[in-house]
Amino acid sequence: MSSETTPIATSARPLETPQLLTDPFLQAPGPDSVRVVWFTEFAGDRHQVTWGDRLQHRVLANSTRLSHTREDGRSNLPPAVAARQPEGTTVWARPIWRHEAIVAGLEPGQRVPYRVASWLGNRVVESQTFTLAAQAPPGQPLRILLTSDHQLKPMVAANLQQVAQTIGAIDGVLLAGDLVNVPDRASEWFDDAMGGAFFPCLQGRAVRSLHGTVYRGGALIQHAPLFTALGNHEVMGRLGQATDLNGEFNDAIPRWAAQQLAGDRPLSATELLDRSFNTHTYDQILTPLGEPGRHYYATSLGDVRLVVLSVAQAWRSPMLTGDRPGRFREGQPADSQSWGWGQHIFESIAPGSPQDQWLQAELASPAFRQARYRVVMLHHPPHTLGDNSVPPFTDPVQAIDRNATGQITAVRYSYPRDRDWIAQHLSPLLEAAGTDLVLYGHSHLWNRFQTGRTHYLETSNVGNSYGAAWGDRVRPGLPPAGSGFDRPDYVPLGDPNGLEPIAPTLAPDRDPATGEPLPYLASNEISAFSILDTATGQVTSYRVDPRQPDRPAEPFDRFTLGGP
Ligand SMILES: [Fe+2]
Repeated sequence: MSSETTPIATSARPLETPQLLTDPFLQAPGPDSVRVVWFTEFAGDRHQVTWGDRLQHRVLANSTRLSHTREDGRSNLPPAVAARQPEGTTVWARPIWRHEAIVAGLEPGQRVPYRVASWLGNRVVESQTFTLAAQAPPGQPLRILLTSDHQLKPMVAANLQQVAQTIGAIDGVLLAGDLVNVPDRASEWFDDAMGGAFFPCLQGRAVRSLHGTVYRGGALIQHAPLFTALGNHEVMGRLGQATDLNGEFNDAIPRWAAQQLAGDRPLSATELLDRSFNTHTYDQILTPLGEPGRHYYATSLGDVRLVVLSVAQAWRSPMLTGDRPGRFREGQPADSQSWGWGQHIFESIAPGSPQDQWLQAELASPAFRQARYRVVMLHHPPHTLGDNSVPPFTDPVQAIDRNATGQITAVRYSYPRDRDWIAQHLSPLLEAAGTDLVLYGHSHLWNRFQTGRTHYLETSNVGNSYGAAWGDRVRPGLPPAGSGFDRPDYVPLGDPNGLEPIAPTLAPDRDPATGEPLPYLASNEISAFSILDTATGQVTSYRVDPRQPDRPAEPFDRFTLGGP
């Protein structure tokens, strides 16, 4: 029942009183089943879910230890956790166990109580009682939260608290990537001392102070299944090369580059992951819904066919000086071991790639074609006013300068727009298939677009914003004219892929000078969330003001899915 995959760090102290590290949450609903997942800091002796109207059914959990969860000097640890740091370490393994039980035999549309319990010797710790349900059948009206880019940002707890207070019970959460900042840092998921870690915010157990109010987040995923897309913040880089976890996070290089650096000997599968990038912690925390090693999948909930894609690339600094690997150049051109290889793509969506072939088959399937609502979720924005749609989403083109003796003097990268795999290939494909909604994140703002039947929505101003490239605010990070790195492919204002942003229909922000509605929300005072109501097909976006904790979230935009 319980298995340990790696030894416990030597000075980890036994926990005196067993506690759950999280409340349980729901994953991977099937026609008559759903998975219940929770975490502890002890292996324990038995872990179980009891469920049913009288909690009369019982099912045991399968338990595994997370293999790569660690802490370091940049962790924000509660004192009791910090006290467990082994002496003399700077990065240390933090043992955490995941428990997953499959609750099966559920009736479609039936919602029943459940709770979980974990035993450590003769001591037991139980959760409160929550409710679960199998996959919602077609025709069942659902309210689905659309969100992304939590990353422990300041307003997330207030945002999710207002989801619970204003909307009440929800039936599903779609999270378009970037759940935390550094995925192997355990405290970012479970107990960051600032009070705004990932699970506490989504489970109503945050303790995040903002403007004199302590926000608790919302108890959402104990009752509603969570579906996520892979963002760039779900990916860790090369193991053991950096001195802390942030350095390791920033040190992802392409698989082919890792093999090239290794020479003629073919790397094993494990070596290849260790020497390029990996998603171990993300894959172990969330129940994988795709094929092993793939982060794209499709599922149905109620009248929604949900297609989730893996569209993310390594983020690199736009700095044109310094010795760090950058977006446009390598800082240490003579040393290929330290190259970052630009903003390389983690999982290809290029024409003919495995993901593309899978997607084409899914878009042609009866499940997609016959769905009332066709929703596609990915991380990288197809259309946005945010910073992160530039440069184009494509494989970096490398150019190497050498001196007269053949030594490398500069390594440069460009990103040709005519090879932007999202704009040139993916968006036309999704639009031709009659996709109703494309949901994404990455730029930390709210904006939306429409072409034909297809709506594009970025509702990622959840915890903070990085601003909108609109009016006189050009995108930061673009190479200046005449720098040798500037290209007409890099668009300083508006949507680089040519759509006009749509101003919020209900209560837009206004330009202070002209009074004109602003076609975005980009704020570090106000956050946003969106709800898809499948009874009506309406997508309503709400604004949350954490300075006014008693004021309900206010709808500021609404549009309706479905078309000819
Ligand atoms: Fe991102």
